[in-house]
Amino acid sequence: MTAPKILALSGSIRDGSINTRLVDAATAELVQHECEVTRISLADYPLPIYDGDLESQDGIPENAKKLARLFHEHDGLFIASPEYNGSLSPLLKNTIDWVSRVSSDEKGDLVPYRGKIGAVAAASPGGMGGISMLYHLREILTRLGVLLVAEQVAVGNGFSAFDDMDKLTDERSAQFLEATCKSLAQKAALLNR
Ligand SMILES: Cc1cc2nc3c(=O)[nH]c(=O)nc-3n(C[C@H](O)[C@H](O)[C@H](O)COP(=O)(O)O)c2cc1C
Repeated sequence: MTAPKILALSGSIRDGSINTRLVDAATAELVQHECEVTRISLADYPLPIYDGDLESQDGIPENAKKLARLFHEHDGLFIASPEYNGSLSPLLKNTIDWVSRVSSDEKGDLVPYRGKIGAVAAASPGGMGGISMLYHLREILTRLGVLLVAEQVAVGNGFSAFDDMDKLTDERSAQFLEATCKSLAQKAALLNR
């Protein structure tokens, strides 16, 4: 059996983002669970705000196609996003929307979402850890056909939640992250068999 391939990304490209730190912590955890993790930053795949006229005129941007291919090539997704007014970041939503417009290219069909195993996470400076955002993200990914693991992570007090090595200092949050990554790794391994 080959190692399950997981694509890990943050819905924030802000310097010092606590969600990016959470993705870093998850990456270390997933590697412990024998996953092959591809860690990307959405800063490397800039996209215009989705506009149907733009798509009609110019087609789907290359970066959306590149991302769709990356999604396609992986068994699972780990996504952490900031909570903005109770929902996911516009950066992440825009990326998800553009990628959903890519279903095929010259090399054959691309399946970026349907049947992938997914896990979601959030970190926020407040006590609720971005839990409201997680409901929205789960709904969107489920609608796109991603099979989400039941476990998830919502890290509260995010600005003091990590040590210098980007490990979670709060034992309960660390346990949630461990359980989420373990579940993602196990289910993605079944898919990969
Ligand atoms: C427009 C906006 C709306 C926000 N809304 C919420 C919110 O609803 N809940 C919350 O916990 N934090 C909220 N925040 C604070 C973010 O959680 C905080 O900026 C966080 O650090 C962003 O994630 P990042 O560090 O990964 O970039 C909001 C921030 C902005 C800029």
